[in-house]
Formats: sequence, C-alpha cells, structure tokens
Amino acid sequence: MSVDTGAPPPKATQGNEDIADTPSEFLVEFLTQLKATTSENAPETTRTLVNQSLELATGLLTYPLAMSSGVSKDAQLLANETKAIDFEVLYNEGKTGSFKFFKEMSSDLLQGQILKMMVRMTGAKKVLEIGTFTGFAALNMAEGLPSDGKLVTMELLPFFAQFARDFFSRTPTGSKITVQEGSAIDLLKNLAEKRESFDLIFIDAAKKDYKDYLQIILDSNILAPGGTMLFDNTIFKGATFMENFPNAAFARGGPGVHNFNKILQNETRVEQVVLPISDGVTIVRRIGE
Ligand SMILES: C[S@@+](CC[C@H](N)C(=O)[O-])C[C@H]1O[C@@H](n2cnc3c(N)ncnc32)[C@H](O)[C@@H]1O
Repeated sequence: MSVDTGAPPPKATQGNEDIADTPSEFLVEFLTQLKATTSENAPETTRTLVNQSLELATGLLTYPLAMSSGVSKDAQLLANETKAIDFEVLYNEGKTGSFKFFKEMSSDLLQGQILKMMVRMTGAKKVLEIGTFTGFAALNMAEGLPSDGKLVTMELLPFFAQFARDFFSRTPTGSKITVQEGSAIDLLKNLAEKRESFDLIFIDAAKKDYKDYLQIILDSNILAPGGTMLFDNTIFKGATFMENFPNAAFARGGPGVHNFNKILQNETRVEQVVLPISDGVTIVRRIGE
C-alpha cells in the first residue's frame, strides 16, 4: 500500500538514529556544522557569534521542555515504546507499505504538552485527530479532556491503528479514545453523513490531502461552531520558504505544504495564525466565531 505522509524519511538508510525533523533541529545541525568548519584562525568575533548562535538554538529546543510540567507517565511510556519500534523491520515486513516511517513522525514531548494544554484551554469535549501513528498526540489530547470527553483518531495503516489501540487499552485515558481505521477522506465523509462535529481537530496525516481535509471539514460542519483546527507541520522543516533546502526528500515536500498555506490564506471562511513551534502548527478558526 502506498502511504503519502508528505514527510519522506530524509535518509535512504533510515534506521532508528535521531534525525533533525523541525526547523529548530535543522538550525542546530547547521550551526554544529558551521562550528566544526570554523577555523581556529577565524576572527574571535566570528567564533564567539557561532558559539552563541549554537547555544541559543540548542537552548530553544531544550529549555522550554525543561521548564514545562512534563507529560504523564503513560505518555512517557508511549514515547519510549515508539522510540523502540524498529521501523526498518516494519518496512521489510511490508507493514508500512512503500514508506519507511521514523520515530520523529510522532509529536514530541513538548508538542504533546502543548496539544493537551490546547484541549484544556479551549474546553473541548470532542476532539478529532487525523493521523494517529502510535497514538502519542491522541493520548496527550485525551488526557486534557474532561472525564466525559471523547476523542476519535483516524489511521490508514492497520499496524499503527492496532498499536495505538493496544497501548490505549493499557491506560485509564484509553476509554475516551476510538481509533478509526481507513483513509481519512473516506472516514471524514462518514462523519459528515452522520452529522458529527468536533470542538478541536488536529490534522496530521497526508500533507497532500490537507486542502481536502480543510474543505470537507468546513463544508460539512465537522468543526463545531466556535471550534478550533490545528494543522501540523505547516513550516515543514523550513523547506516551505528556504531555497535549496539541503535535505532533498524534505525539499520535495516543502512546496506542497507552502501551497496549502496559501490556500488557507485565501480561504475566506477562516482566520489563521502560524505558530513557529515544533514543525509549525497553524491554528485555524472560522471567522466571526
Ligand atoms: C505524522 S504521523 C501522525 C503523528 C501523530 N499525530 C502524533 O502526533 O503522534 C501521520 C500518520 O498519518 C497516517 N496517514 C497517512 N496518510 C493517511 C490517510 N490518507 N488517512 C489516514 N491516515 C493517514 C500515517 O500512516 C501516519 O501514521
């Protein structure tokens, strides 16, 4: 099965090593390379500025996480279990179709906390996620729901749908979560037919389908009045705006996400703001609500 997540793995031999997946992580990588190639004979001001830039960029990744409350024990366990998956083996067994997944496709620890906080701040009682993966974002958002809250998460690949279901069943929060398996567009149409609506929708599946998700959700009122949508990866490593992004696979994905951002900008029914957190998260609300 061909899965287009819009985020192909950046290295052909992708294993389980850490990779840069956000603009801030790439910035640290670039500055680390710059430091390594800055001659000891370079002017002192140059070397100082390189060191300060790297310190600042690294701190922007680590400091917010260190000063935040942290994720729950269950969420930490899921993050650990996601890291332990051998994506190479999954790929070789044909469980991820033609695409080799990687652990960074999960929301990270800070984003998990941000999503949970968003659920709490909006007072959402019904949350929809498009793109489950191993379930990390879903679990964090469900933890932010009141006890009678519900979360539906959609996943194309049977392996990940089952992985998430199995994990959720081991947690108290899991009873709030339903994993729907299938193509998000088909599943969204089902929700539309049933006239279901959600207070908060986190969109994080195939980037090429973002514009379709947006249209179906708005046309069918799957977003409840006054509700909020969050689109993930809208800065897409920086490949949306950088010329000659140095990672070829990500460079190919950038223009598609940029195109979606422009569609969103021209969509008269909504207002939006792009947050430069993680890989870019765009908050979208209907105008006037
Ligand atoms: C970036 S991951 C989601 C990460 C998850 N939201 C989190 O933050 O932990 C994207 C997921 O979307 C799924 N996906 C890709 N195309 C899809 C489609 N057309 N319908 C439903 N799910 C899809 C992929 O299989 C993958 O598991």
